[in-house]
Amino acid sequence: MEFESSAWSESLRTTLCFLFFSFTAVFSVFSLLIFILRHIQPWCTCETCHTYLTAGWASEFDNLSDWYAHLLRRSPTGTIHIHVLGNIITANPDNVDHILKTRFHNYPKGKQFSSILGDLLGKGIFNSDGDRWMFQRKMASLELGSVSVRSYAFEIISSEVRTRLLPLFDSVIGRRSPSDSVKPHPELDLQDVFRRFSFDTICRFSFGIDPGCLKLSLPMSEFAVAFDAASRLCAERALTRSPLVWKLKRLLNLGSEKRLRKAIKMINMLADEVIKQRRKMGSSTHNDLLSRFLDSIQDDRFLRDVIVSFLLAGRDTVASGLTGLLWFISQYPQVEEAIREEAGRIMDLTDGVATFEQIKSMHYLHAVVYESMRLLPPIQFDSKFALEDDILPDGTFVRRGTRVTYHPYAMGRMERLWGPDALKFRPERWLKGGVFSPQNLYKFPVFQAGPRVCLGKELAIVEMKTAAVALVRMYSIRPVDPSWKPKFTPGLTATFGGGLPVIITPLQGC
Ligand code: HEM
Repeated sequence: MEFESSAWSESLRTTLCFLFFSFTAVFSVFSLLIFILRHIQPWCTCETCHTYLTAGWASEFDNLSDWYAHLLRRSPTGTIHIHVLGNIITANPDNVDHILKTRFHNYPKGKQFSSILGDLLGKGIFNSDGDRWMFQRKMASLELGSVSVRSYAFEIISSEVRTRLLPLFDSVIGRRSPSDSVKPHPELDLQDVFRRFSFDTICRFSFGIDPGCLKLSLPMSEFAVAFDAASRLCAERALTRSPLVWKLKRLLNLGSEKRLRKAIKMINMLADEVIKQRRKMGSSTHNDLLSRFLDSIQDDRFLRDVIVSFLLAGRDTVASGLTGLLWFISQYPQVEEAIREEAGRIMDLTDGVATFEQIKSMHYLHAVVYESMRLLPPIQFDSKFALEDDILPDGTFVRRGTRVTYHPYAMGRMERLWGPDALKFRPERWLKGGVFSPQNLYKFPVFQAGPRVCLGKELAIVEMKTAAVALVRMYSIRPVDPSWKPKFTPGLTATFGGGLPVIITPLQGC
């Protein structure tokens, strides 16, 4: 009797389990179908979607951003909809203002974004919305706004340029006996150099550790290699047609997801070690961000997330900005001369690296930096997800859950925003009477705008100006291949495929 009742309850349990899993499976498939039907139209045969699906754009354009820029220029509203991706893309400043400021709360980063970057960035500022974002934003703004942190950051930049960047260039042209054993050869990959430079700088600023990457004879630090791999593999997640693909690979620990897990493990190990050491030493001994956050954040995992977000924010963006900037300068000798002429008025001949005050007063150089990022923004586009149905100022209807992308790269190429010479590199457009004159932030959202505007904007510009002026005063830098044109590879930030190999020639009298 007892045996019968236990067999009966066993079979009931099995039936219930079966029903539960069947229901879950049917419900999941059904939800997925509803999602696809509401937000994506995989069957769409409109010309744009057809060209996207068949990659027909590739016969005419180097990359997707150039094709989008072309479509946005042709669109009367400056907005397009790629139905098969469920993505509304806009280059209309009124829409950008609406998304980033007026209806900010309706356009968070959304779950899709945070699941792609969640494993790398955890709950860091880049990957959070709502109260968690607000808390970090307030804390980080306070720190970055403080005079001591700013001057600490400038000290790092200036020492990195004086003691590493310039000696590296000298050693490459064989002018000075290098402490590294780099063979004298006047060629190097400028993008690689700037990635090393910005990684050293942002690590020293955020963690207070010096990875010493800016020595070409040394291999990249394990941390930098792991960081590179992790950001590239996260960007690959964003390129898969359905998140189910990478989620399944992650579940089974296969291929790219296995490599990503390994890279993140390495980042975590190093970050944990630094946090442990710093806790031991106490918070007040250093000026880096980590030390400043030690008192307000007790949870070490969260502390790691905050700091790793800063590394991602401040590394490749600056490297990409600097590579584009030096390339433009190499293409326009009159701009190069004007930078030297301005520096010559502000600095003494014997000054190697400009002071903070000198950098601030270089208005022409400031305009060159902005003009370069107008045409080659380090972050080409940025997406949000609508919480509720909405209508953009140009009349575009946005259904709840739709991805909405603003596109700084396309915006920099719009004649209706910048005039008939929009495609021309002309720093003077940023100057009034020789003084830098900013443009509407929603027409130039290279640093985003509104409540989530980039927190490292000032720092990034000072870093780019300091490095660029030091190099331009001392060397002539030209691409090895004079016909080199920037071609982006997919990634979280704009990276130039194949780097930028250059020839360096020292200037007479330097
Ligand atoms: C040329 C260099 C840079 C560019 C073009 C740039 C651009 C941007 C953009 C477009 C965003 C918005 C991203 C998004 O919300 O998805 C952003 C956010 C941010 N940036 Fe930058 N950035 C640069 C350098 C830096 C540096 C050097 C730092 C740190 C020292 C930094 C710190 C941040 C932080 C913390 C955020 C998040 C702000 C928030 O979500 O409230 N950035 N940046």
